This record gives sequence, C-alpha cells and structure tokens, in this order.
Amino acid sequence: MRKNTVTLILFLSFFLVLDLLLVSGVDSKIVLTCGTGEKRKDVDGREWEPDTKYFTSSSSTSSQASFQDPSLPSEVPYMTARIFTTEATYKLPVKADNRYWIRLHFYPATYGSLDPSDAYFDVVAAGISLLKNFSASETSRALTQAYIVKEYSLAPATADFINVTFTPSKEHQGSFAFINGIELIPIPDMFSSAQMVGFKDMPVDVKTSSLQTMYRLNVGGQYIAAMDDTELRTWYDDTPYLYGAVGGVLTMANKSDGPDYGIDYNGMPQYIAPLAVYYTARAMGYDGDLNKNYNLTWQFQVDANFTYLVRLHFCDYQDDKVNQRVFDIYINNQTAQAGADVIGWATRKSVPVYKDYAIYVADTTGDDHITLALHPSVTADPPPEFYDAILNGLEIFKMNDPTGNLAGPNPQPSEMLLKAEAEAAAKANAAKGFSSTSSNIHVIGGAAGGAAAFGAMAAICITVYMRKKRIHGVDSHTTSWLPISKFSHTNGSKSHNSVTSHLSSEAQGLSRRFSLAEIKQATKGFDESYVIGVGGFGKVYKGVIDKTTKVAIKRSNPQSEQGVHEFQTEVEMLSKLRHKHLVSLIGYCEEDNEMCLVYDYMARGTLREHIYKGNNPQLSWKQRLEICIGAARGLHYLHTGARYTIIHRDVKTTNILLDENWVAKVSDFGLSKTGPNMDKGHVSTVVKGSFGYLDPEYFRRQQLTEKSDIYSFGVVLFEVLCARPALNPNLPKEQVSLADWAQHCTRKGILEDIIDPHIKGKINPECLKKFAETAQKCLSEAGVDRPSMGDVLWNLEFALQLQENVDGSSHSTRERTSDFDEISLKDNNVRLHISNLSLGSEHEMNQGLEDGNSTEIFSQIVNPKGR
Ligand SMILES: *[C@@H]1O[C@H](CO)[C@@H](O)[C@H](O)[C@H]1NC(C)=O
Ligand SMILES: *[C@@H]1O[C@H](CO)[C@@H](O)[C@H](O)[C@H]1NC(C)=O
Ligand SMILES: *[C@@H]1O[C@H](CO)[C@@H](O)[C@H](O)[C@H]1NC(C)=O
Ligand SMILES: *[C@@H]1O[C@H](CO)[C@@H](O)[C@H](O)[C@H]1NC(C)=O
Ligand SMILES: *[C@@H]1O[C@H](CO)[C@@H](O)[C@H](O)[C@H]1NC(C)=O
Ligand SMILES: *[C@@H]1O[C@H](CO)[C@@H](O)[C@H](O)[C@H]1NC(C)=O
Ligand SMILES: *[C@@H]1O[C@H](CO)[C@@H](O)[C@H](O)[C@H]1NC(C)=O
Ligand SMILES: *[C@@H]1O[C@H](CO)[C@@H](O)[C@H](O)[C@H]1NC(C)=O
Ligand SMILES: *[C@@H]1O[C@H](CO)[C@@H](O)[C@H](O)[C@H]1NC(C)=O
Repeated sequence: MRKNTVTLILFLSFFLVLDLLLVSGVDSKIVLTCGTGEKRKDVDGREWEPDTKYFTSSSSTSSQASFQDPSLPSEVPYMTARIFTTEATYKLPVKADNRYWIRLHFYPATYGSLDPSDAYFDVVAAGISLLKNFSASETSRALTQAYIVKEYSLAPATADFINVTFTPSKEHQGSFAFINGIELIPIPDMFSSAQMVGFKDMPVDVKTSSLQTMYRLNVGGQYIAAMDDTELRTWYDDTPYLYGAVGGVLTMANKSDGPDYGIDYNGMPQYIAPLAVYYTARAMGYDGDLNKNYNLTWQFQVDANFTYLVRLHFCDYQDDKVNQRVFDIYINNQTAQAGADVIGWATRKSVPVYKDYAIYVADTTGDDHITLALHPSVTADPPPEFYDAILNGLEIFKMNDPTGNLAGPNPQPSEMLLKAEAEAAAKANAAKGFSSTSSNIHVIGGAAGGAAAFGAMAAICITVYMRKKRIHGVDSHTTSWLPISKFSHTNGSKSHNSVTSHLSSEAQGLSRRFSLAEIKQATKGFDESYVIGVGGFGKVYKGVIDKTTKVAIKRSNPQSEQGVHEFQTEVEMLSKLRHKHLVSLIGYCEEDNEMCLVYDYMARGTLREHIYKGNNPQLSWKQRLEICIGAARGLHYLHTGARYTIIHRDVKTTNILLDENWVAKVSDFGLSKTGPNMDKGHVSTVVKGSFGYLDPEYFRRQQLTEKSDIYSFGVVLFEVLCARPALNPNLPKEQVSLADWAQHCTRKGILEDIIDPHIKGKINPECLKKFAETAQKCLSEAGVDRPSMGDVLWNLEFALQLQENVDGSSHSTRERTSDFDEISLKDNNVRLHISNLSLGSEHEMNQGLEDGNSTEIFSQIVNPKGR
C-alpha cells in the first residue's frame, strides 16, 4: 500500500516535470514568413509558418514580389511581404528572462505598385529601437546585396511576449514599411561582462544589454550554415576582412584524433561555438622573424557612436605548454590584451576558450572601423618559444546605447560604387534591349567588384567581396544556401521509365522542367543545323523557347552511363548556383530516356574562338583582360562563395563563354567536385579534365584541390596572351605544351617573342609583367605555391589598371607583394582524395586534344619531364 503511494507520487511528479518542460517551451522557436496565409518550406527544408496569428493590427496588405533576384537563397520567405502604411505590431510570445535571436528578413523588391525606395521605417522591439529611418533599398544598394538580414539579441525581459512594431516614416511622402520574414529563436544566455579596452578594470555589463550581430566569423575555416549550429548561427569565412598584405597561414586540428578532432570543451558549454570553429585557426606563420615584423590584422566597418562587444574564440591544438605561443591583441590601436597565452588560459592543449572585449567607436575621425591586430609578444620575459599568434573565431556585436537604441544610419554607397553605377547606367543606355532593372543591378554589382582594385587596400577588402559577403547585416550572404551536404542522389540506375527522375526533388524544384515536346520544338526536332557544339556529354543545340528566349540545349548521349552522372551533377549544382560569371541553367528535360539541359544562350560563343579559332575580329588586350577577370571572378565564386569549395576541374578556353555584352561566363560543371563533406559515393575515381590544362600535381598525388583549377587557369591566361592552343602537337617537341613553353620563355626573358602578334606592342610593359607573373605563379609545380583565385583576381585587376593608366600616373595604389605566400594548404580541409588514378575515355582524350596526336601528348603528360 505504502509502496504504491510512493510509486504514484513518483509517477505524478514525473508527469509534472514533463509538463513543466513542455509549458516552459524551451524550444519555442517562432519562424514566420510574412504576407502569406500558408505554411511553407525554404530551400533548407525549414518550415516557416504564416504570420497572421501574431499580427495584431488590421491595416496591412500581403504582397508578392514582382521579381525574383537570382541571388535570393530561397523563395521562402523573400518572395512574399507584409506591407504597412500605418504603425503595426507583431505580438510574439516569449518566455520571461530568456534570450532570443530575433532576425528580420527584408527583400526590397517592387510589391504591386509600391516602389521599395519609398519605404522608410522604424522598427522597435520590446522598447529597443532596432531600425530608424531604415531604407532596405538604400542598404541593399550600398552593400550590393539583393536582400538584408538583421540579427539581434534582446536583453532578457520579464514580460511573456514582445511587441515588434513597424512605423513608416512620417517625413517621407508615401512611405510604407514591409517585412518578409521574422525569426525568434531562444538561446542560452551566453553573455556576461566584457573588459573595456583602454581602461584598467572596467568591466562592461553585457548580460542586460541588447545586441545586434555585426560579424560572426569562423577564422581560418569555412562557412558554417545555421542548420549546422545548435544555436542556428551562421559563421562566415574571415578572408574578406583580412587587412594588409599578409594573411598568415591556415591550420587545422588533427583529424585522426577522433570525430571531435581531439577538441575537449572541458566544461565550457558547447553552445558558445560549434566544434568547427575551434578545429580550424589562422596563425601568423612558421617564420618567427617574419612574424615579429607584422601584425595579423582584420578590419570591420561598423556604425560610430556605439560600444561593441568583440568576442574572440581560441583553441590551441598545436602547443601543449604555457609560454610557447604568446601574443598581444590590439583593438583599434589599443592594447586589449598583452601576453595572451591560449594554453595558459585553457590549461591544456585542444581546450577552447573565449575572451570578451568591449570597445567604444567614436565618431571623431569619421573612421568607423574596428581593427583587430595580433602580434607576437616580443617583450615577454622569458621570451615565448615561438613568435606566433592564433585566432579561431570572432564575433562582433553592437550594444544598445543608453537611450535604448541600436539603429545606425543607412549605409552610404561608396564613391566607387556610385561611379560604377553611373558608368553602368551610361552603358545600359547605349546598349539596345538592355532595360530590365535586374540586369542593371547585375552590371552594377560587377562594376563594383571591378572598380575595387583602384581603391586602397581597405576598399578592396570591402568591395571585392561585398557582393558575396555582407558588411553590415550579418546574414545577407547571397550564397549561403547551397545545400550540397543534403544532396539526395538517387541510385543512378538506368531506368527506362520516364517517371523516375535522376534528380533530387530539391533540384527539380529549383529549375524549370521542360517536356520533350518543348525541346523538340525549340530545336526543330534536334535538327543538325542547330548544332553549335559537341562536348563529352553530347551535342549542344541552339534553340528558342517561349517564342523569344534564345537558349542553348545540351542533349545527352543516351548511351552514355557517364552522362547520367554528369547530368545529375550539373543540374544539382547549377540549379543552386547563380552568379554573373557563371552560365545559368534555365531548366532541364528528362523524358523517354532523353536528358537535356537548357542554358542561357551565350551569343558570342567560346573564348577560344575569339582568340585564335574562327574568323572573329581580334579582341584588344584590354578586352581580353576583362574577360579573364570575369572568368576569374566566376571561379573565385565557385572556390569561396558557395557553401563548400567547388572545384571546376575542367577550366579551359572552350568552357569560358561570352554573352552579347562580352561578359565572360564559366560553363560546364559536369566534372565539378565539391568539398569537404562530400559523400564518398560521389567522388569519381577517374582523373578528368582536358589535356594541356591538367595540373601535374593532381596526377602525381592524386589529390584534387582548387589549386588544380588555378593551374588550368594559368594555362588559359597564357593562351589568351599567346593565342595558341594549350597543346599543339604540330610544333617542335619543346613547344607542344603551352604551359611548359610559356614558362620556359618567361624564365629566359623571351616571352615577348611568343605573344599574339595582334596585340604585341599594345600592352603596357608593367601590365604584361604583372600578367605574366600571375600566370607563371598559377603554373607553379606545387599547389601550395600557386595563388588563390582571389589573389589571381586581384592581380589581374591590378594589371588592368596598369594597362588603363598607360602614362603610369597612378602610383598611389598599394601593391600586395606577398600575396602568393599567403595561405598554406598543408592542413586545408578542402582537399579531396581521389582514391584511384585512371584516365578518361578515349573520347575525352581526343576532345582535349582536338587536332593532335594523342599518343605522344599522352606520354608527355603522364611522364612530365623537364618541368
Ligand atoms: C532618412 O534617410 C534619408 C536617406 O537616408 C534621409 O534623406 C532623411 O533625411 C532621413 N530622415 C531622418 C529623419 O533622418
Ligand atoms: C504590445 O502591444 C499591445 C497592442 O498593440 C499593447 O496593448 C501592449 O501594451 C504592448 N505591450 C508592450 C509591453 O509594449
Ligand atoms: C595525427 O595523429 C596521428 C595519430 O595520433 C599521428 O600519427 C599523426 O602524425 C598526426 N598528424 C599530425 C599532422 O600531427
Ligand atoms: C555621433 O555623435 C555625435 C555627437 O553626439 C554626433 O555629432 C554625430 O553625428 C554622431 N554620429 C553618428 C554617425 O550618428
Ligand atoms: C591606428 O593607427 C594607424 C596607423 O598608426 C592609423 O592609420 C589608424 O587610423 C589608427 N586607427 C584608429 C582606429 O585609431
Ligand atoms: C601592430 O599594431 C599595433 C597597434 O596598432 C602598433 O602599435 C604596432 O606598431 C603594429 N606593429 C607592426 C609591426 O605593424
Ligand atoms: C541505393 O542502393 C543501396 C544498395 O544497393 C540501397 O541500400 C539503397 O536503399 C538505395 N537507395 C535508394 C535511394 O534507392
Ligand atoms: C586502385 O585500385 C586497385 C584495384 O581496384 C586497388 O588495389 C588499389 O589499392 C587502388 N589504389 C588506391 C590508391 O586506392
Ligand atoms: C603519333 O605519334 C607517335 C609517336 O611519336 C607515332 O608513332 C604515330 O605515328 C603518330 N601518329 C600520327 C597519326 O601522327
């Protein structure tokens, strides 16, 4: 009897506890897509619920965006908006005393008859002013971003709901407010206090502060998607924010130390930062004497008149004793920490720690930046064993000011951007049929990147990368969505049933599906006169769809098993990649055992036919440079802009296409590989690519890295300069391979002799020097010695500038000198291991050779002698 009572009480209390857990709603995320009445899923499969339930005012309209910018990560939540012409409030239930991320998503498109540039509004949440006189359209223009995401964390409050109020500006005629998506995500309280930089013992209370996330970087590592972080944070690569010529080296913990790379949180909560932040780092380098002479520096643009919380994440997995690696930390030229010793803080190797610093950014100089610099401690006594520094992760938060304000001014477009816009507008007026605003935006974006090399270093950091990475809003990364890790490849069986698709449902959803009848109509039943090219995959036809749209249609060879795989790869990749310098996939057709891919039509064909194949008028040197820069930008995007590194694997002049405006677009992703989380099953065991462009190291070490693309691109650069094929078997033996011959000539100082006669003498010697040096570096024997695509891009832009200032009047630009030693790939995790080496089919081989004697070239490549 008594025993039973006890059991009953236990039983009841169990339910009570369970009940409490449920009521407390620890996991009560609210994820809203605004302006729609139905639940919807985004590209990552996250569910967004309609906002109607939380919306308290009655005067609002829902609207559909009139245009889907190709760089939008997902239709949900951006394509619908709720629009307010008067003050309106969302009432969101929260748990008292809890912290939340609150994220606001804005896509400034035309909604019905409303022009986004009329939208000026304030947003207040729980009494904190988040945005004031905010113009999403101005912000997006200044940052060259299609959409804006703002992330905040409000101080824990006692109320059990928060009001988020939107108020259209009263000053601006016809102003309105809009919102596309709202997220409210509970998080543990991970803030306490921070040391004020420049003051002794002056802690700043962060616990009761409201914060806006400005930057969140996985230093020395890769992009981490929100879905891969327990607290749904997005972490970005730090490269765009590096300041100065030297970027240190990337390091990574030892993978064979276990699935956690040997990292031991040792009691620190895991929610502070994910493992992936701690197992990669950026250090200064292996040469202590060199390290003593420079600061490893990052620079961030911020709003003036605010205090910022700078959180630095450290984990030293290389040293195990104190006083081995000791360094000083400077924030805005002030010592934030002297004698930082990660092992000293953490007590052991591989244990993460983080440090919080606060810094006030005044408006005195108009210099609204936070500069973080690391320098080895040279004054320490006894001196440290290594003169080196390390950083694994970084977060910068803006703290609310005493008036409860977090809002800064709308960012101003840089002068360079304004100039570029003016040029683009002039160009747009000159070019016929160039009226749509979307292409305008794209030209502007491209011009902004192109103009970047003409500014100072800081401006380059900001503008070259700006289109892809955000400067202000932490999350407006336009490519953050490439969900390669979740590819649901089917088993690639050769089904004759036209209902079974080889594509993941996701890829099918992203691109248009054409019927075979439509394709046949577009190509007059695959008429031979419509053929514009032949590739490994099959024939390429031109065609017209929807009566007016010119397209290129790739038809697979129905017999080719390889075709199925490449078809999959290409649709899966291309349907998610959108970039001005990548050929866009419009759709596909998969029916009756036919597989076709439908692309934008590239009116001017391949780069090769404009240099030496075909009867086209000669391109000027400047045009050639601009095309190379465009292609480099496309490849740079593949390497760094997407969620994972994408290696093209078949960079060559026939895969660089030109549209009617001479914009270069990289094509042919049939061979592309992604890293690092690639499922083993997708890694081909066949070395692919085209002879003449193949990286010798790839052959020797059977490891594919993005540096293989750099090698191939180096060949392309020489091809553009010399106007001859990568391989020409009709030439004397030592001249057959352009890569070898051009390097030989460069070393001997006789490169001039092999330059295309059409442009010889019209190249500024400085420009030629820079160009040849860049191409030469790309062809370095070892991958680690080759520059990154970002460096190649920078150097080409610099070369273009040298060509344009033929009188040599611009000496103000700082040249990056040591770019090429910047990054050591030794520990880089993007490497893919190709398990076995064999050669492609004969068909591919001949394709690479085109008009040559394959046997001879083949033996030359397999035994690359005299290199
Ligand atoms: C709002 O912003 C616009 C442009 O950024 C500016 O012209 C206007 O003066 C601002 N209004 C207020 C009240 O700050
Ligand atoms: C939130 O808004 C509702 C209605 O708009 C209002 O009644 C309430 O007082 C507001 N509460 C707070 C805490 O601002
Ligand atoms: C990684 O750990 C393994 C096993 O502990 C060891 O053999 C290897 O040398 C280590 N690699 C590096 C780069 O330290
Ligand atoms: C910062 O504050 C000063 C003095 O209050 C003011 O003059 C200045 O305009 C402010 N700057 C910004 C960017 O708000
Ligand atoms: C830091 O010092 C450098 C050079 O001494 C100077 O150019 C820069 O403006 C300073 N930055 C700040 C935030 O004071
Ligand atoms: C590193 O930065 C600090 C603080 O800005 C500066 O005092 C120092 O001179 C810098 N050192 C080098 C080598 O640039
Ligand atoms: C793929 O094939 C494997 C082994 O044949 C099988 O276990 C798996 O279920 C298949 N997957 C699909 C999606 O058909
Ligand atoms: C290559 O394949 C062969 C046979 O399939 C196998 O024995 C060998 O171990 C493989 N080599 C590598 C490096 O994986
Ligand atoms: C190709 O080269 C090989 C070796 O030099 C030679 O034996 C063969 O006859 C050549 N073939 C042609 C078609 O030129």
